[in-house]
Amino acid sequence: MKADLIVGIQWGDEGKGKMVDMLAQNYDMVCRSQGGHNAGHTIWVDGVRYALHLIPSGVLNPKAINIIGNGVVLSPESIIKEMEQFDNLEGRLFISDKAHLNLPYHALIDQAKERLKGDKAIGTTGKGIGPAYAEKISRTGFRVGELLNPSKLTENIIEYFIQNRAIFDVLQIDTPTKDELLIIISEYKNKLAPFIANTTNMVWDALDNDKRILLEGAQGTLLDIDHGTYPYVTSSSTVSAGACTGLGINPKDIGIVTGIVKAYCTRVGNGPFPSEDHGNDGDTMATVGKEVGTTTGRKRRCGWFDAVAVKHASRLNGCDQLSLMKLDVLDGFEKIKICKAYEFNGEVITYMPSELDDVKPIYEEIDGWDSVVGCRDYDKLPQNAKKYIEKIEELTGVKVGIISTSPERDDTIIRG
Ligand code: GDP
Ligand code: IMO
Ligand code: MG
Repeated sequence: MKADLIVGIQWGDEGKGKMVDMLAQNYDMVCRSQGGHNAGHTIWVDGVRYALHLIPSGVLNPKAINIIGNGVVLSPESIIKEMEQFDNLEGRLFISDKAHLNLPYHALIDQAKERLKGDKAIGTTGKGIGPAYAEKISRTGFRVGELLNPSKLTENIIEYFIQNRAIFDVLQIDTPTKDELLIIISEYKNKLAPFIANTTNMVWDALDNDKRILLEGAQGTLLDIDHGTYPYVTSSSTVSAGACTGLGINPKDIGIVTGIVKAYCTRVGNGPFPSEDHGNDGDTMATVGKEVGTTTGRKRRCGWFDAVAVKHASRLNGCDQLSLMKLDVLDGFEKIKICKAYEFNGEVITYMPSELDDVKPIYEEIDGWDSVVGCRDYDKLPQNAKKYIEKIEELTGVKVGIISTSPERDDTIIRG
């Protein structure tokens, strides 16, 4: 059986967590393949809120196995803390021995480099994601499997500190002594050893035995290291292709691809955002949509649905359908704008250029509606909400198969 995939289509925080949690009720295995604890996936079930950063959003289905694949950068400290929200996860959570470690010094390097950049800062989450991936690619990183031998790993990290002393000194970062480090690493091993596994084989077994697998993307396509708004991006492959390398599966293993989009658009951190709204409408979206970051508590920038970017991102990911989230946040707007083209170098274009700095959005306006909040039936949606959905389908060329009308799992419309 093939693995179905959920991928963020905008700049992250589209509502992937809600969708994965909802769909996971029908899957045997849920896998994360990239990113780290920069991700913040929020799930609401019966009024209880769960915030997940590294643990896959299938964790609320007690029957699902959750996999953290080799493409993730794993902070032991963060996952140990996150695991405390749940009863014993042994036998339900597995972490690839090939995933790279995101250690406390990575976060310190990330934060120090951001400070040095001043007004050119990326606006990272400060969680060490860039430095951890940089070391993986430079072949100077450490892997989760190495936690199983704390003395050897400690020695190797100390050697790394010595070789890189100049960098730590310039950035004014203190590093732990060998004794201090051994205590920390041994603690990580004690807590995490039962979860470390060869997850590639586990995923292959599940595929070969017709288990239903859901792949959970983190971040969003416009933050992709290659295809996003570089350098204002994250450091992993956030597109559907990244799930293959990040888990050890091949493109033929992928089944239905669902792109998650908000009915409007948000971005946290710096970088271009053509359809950003700096006026009252953007403020209303931020307030009604409670647009505050799950991971950093930062206010998210808000703006209109950018159909040009969504069309581009859908092509990159091979989306079979879109899941349109937070439609209820647009309730009560008299007019709703949708970006259908860009003005770029004096021309009107309907494709996304490689740089978004100099594009201006061209909007079409649609009449608003009163309320869709909590709606679970497509036929009961107001006429104008249906027109908005049809406009999105027309401009992006992708069917809107799922519509979400509140944070709760069941306030969702699945179109036949
Ligand atoms: P993710 O990173 O893609 O998982 O998204 P986040 O969890 O960071 O942000 C999405 C936010 O929107 C969360 O607080 C969700 O609870 C909330 N949310 C998801 N779907 C809906 C919806 O349809 N309506 C409303 N009002 N909120 C939603
Ligand atoms: P989820 O999975 C939204 C953004 C940061 C910053 C840029 C680089 O919840 O959708 P990083 O710490 O990754 O080096 O920061 O990427 N960013 C996210 N924005 N949602 C996320 O994850 C994000 N993860 C990283 O704000 O602009
Ligand atoms: Mg998020």
